[in-house]
Amino acid sequence: MRIDIISVVPALMQSFFEHSICKRASQAGLVSIHLHDLHDYSSKKFRQVDDYPFGGGAGMVIAVEPLSTCLDHLMSERTYQEIIFLTPDGETFQQGLANQLSMAENLLFICGHYKGIDERIREKYVTKEISIGDYVLSGGEIAAAVCADAIIRLIPGAIGDESSALTDSFQDGLLAPPVYTRPASFKGMDVPEVLLSGHEKKIEAWRHEQSVKRTQARRPDLLQ
Ligand code: ADE
Repeated sequence: MRIDIISVVPALMQSFFEHSICKRASQAGLVSIHLHDLHDYSSKKFRQVDDYPFGGGAGMVIAVEPLSTCLDHLMSERTYQEIIFLTPDGETFQQGLANQLSMAENLLFICGHYKGIDERIREKYVTKEISIGDYVLSGGEIAAAVCADAIIRLIPGAIGDESSALTDSFQDGLLAPPVYTRPASFKGMDVPEVLLSGHEKKIEAWRHEQSVKRTQARRPDLLQ
């Protein structure tokens, strides 16, 4: 998979993608991430990429010209399954969407900043608009990193134990069950017996029961 990300502050994401799962998946050749500084596509003397909003009002808007130049350039080189704009008024990002996007070959993310991007970009280029929650961030960079992380870990081979992504919370519509590791007893707190039994079927049944209980208690909306 190839992921291109357009931003006015790509440095915000640089370190994130050089660590953890993203780094491993890149080294394993499963994903390549390309950060693009929108200023590189500006035709203005001081590499300006934003302008005042027509009609007045507070804040600046990312202009149509540099963004369309950047998009045309990237789109002339490959076909993107989705061109995604990160925005608080987009569709809420969920595990199901992460699963769907993890099957793409090429994804393109556009990070907004300031008051947003010129609406004509959304109309002409954007195929999907994603929000990571009902709050407003200063820019789309963190949202793009969140989405990319959730997507990349689903690519087969991206995480050590292949079955592990399949047992994540939400993957089967339930929250994940509790987990324990050694020691089996710590300051009077004991690990549930069943997990030490070696009885696979019983362990699986216990985990499912715990998942259901936890989901009922914390996220009953998921069971409806
Ligand atoms: N940009 C600003 N806020 C955002 C949010 N909640 N989700 C995605 N992109 C954003």
